Amino acid sequence: MDFNIAIIPGDGIGPEVTAQAKKALEAVADEYGHHFTYTEAMMGACAIDATGNPLPEETLDICEASDAILFGAIGDPKYDNDPTAKVRPEQGLLRLRKSLGLFCNVRPVKAYEQLIDNSPLKREIISGADMSIYRELTGGIYFGEKHLSDDGQVASDGCSYSVKEITRMAHLAFKEAQNRRKKLTLVDKANVLETSRLWRKTVTEIAKGYPDVAVDFLFVDNAAMQMILNPKQFDVILTENLFGDIISDEASVIGGSIGLLASASVGTENALFEPIHGSYPQATGKGIANPLASILSAAMLLRHLGLQDEAASIETAVEKSLELGFTTEDLKPENPLSTSKVGDFIADYILNPEDTNRN
Ligand code: IPM
Ligand code: MN
Repeated sequence: MDFNIAIIPGDGIGPEVTAQAKKALEAVADEYGHHFTYTEAMMGACAIDATGNPLPEETLDICEASDAILFGAIGDPKYDNDPTAKVRPEQGLLRLRKSLGLFCNVRPVKAYEQLIDNSPLKREIISGADMSIYRELTGGIYFGEKHLSDDGQVASDGCSYSVKEITRMAHLAFKEAQNRRKKLTLVDKANVLETSRLWRKTVTEIAKGYPDVAVDFLFVDNAAMQMILNPKQFDVILTENLFGDIISDEASVIGGSIGLLASASVGTENALFEPIHGSYPQATGKGIANPLASILSAAMLLRHLGLQDEAASIETAVEKSLELGFTTEDLKPENPLSTSKVGDFIADYILNPEDTNRN
């Protein structure tokens, strides 16, 4: 089949890791007889440098015309250390999510048996943990009204949610729970926030339509603790934008490295796939960044396009690289492979899974 894939390498290690994901996609195209056309577009600090705009109009057009978008990473320390900057790289990603209506961000987290000892958490706590975090992505405090007083002494960020925004998210999360272990946990702060109380009320109503799914509610502070104490209790977690951002980074500890977590952002028309990690400026250009999160994002992209076996072939190759220790230094401090060598291994394994020479 033919598909148009927009690639936004972005900042920092973004270009290095997306290049490896592209190798995996090309191997899949070869192996399964598909044809992918890639169109590269700019976003983030690199786009500000080139055009003054973190999300150039052309990038938005390319994304809208694509069947799926593969995105690398965004951010640059020169903006992080300048709180007065009016134009910021992250605005590019936030605008893209909003413009394309990518309201649902899915972040699967699991403990890979091959990596259990990489996590600082005890084996018995994490072994078997497997959850999917459903993070609302185009509402809440990220997109509320922002204000800074003229004298610079008071700042505010508004947080609002509508029943409509909560409802469309909740249905997707309940459907996923039905396909998994049939448990959904809503993470909120309903003892304090009005928006959280609206989430709880709305989700309680919607739950009646999914009698086979067990629902529970956790305050976000408790959820943060439970994530470390007993992560196996979670199946599908449904939560608002900011809480989802925070607990998904926390959950990455279970997998042994944030360099492994992929995500899908979906809406009504378009879909974007990206690692949950950032631009990791300290590693840029050194060939040490873990490309597996980007490669697994490519697998999610293929599944979204309906290419199940193709997606599974990437995931199997990733499992194999973990099993054989063909990984970057975050997972294997001694004798690691470079970013690009891991990408080569994955592509090669997709094409020749039976080749035993590499063992
Ligand atoms: C993420 C990132 C983004 C977010 C940043 C880069 C705006 O941390 O995708 O988790 O906060 O959503
Ligand atoms: Mn984040």
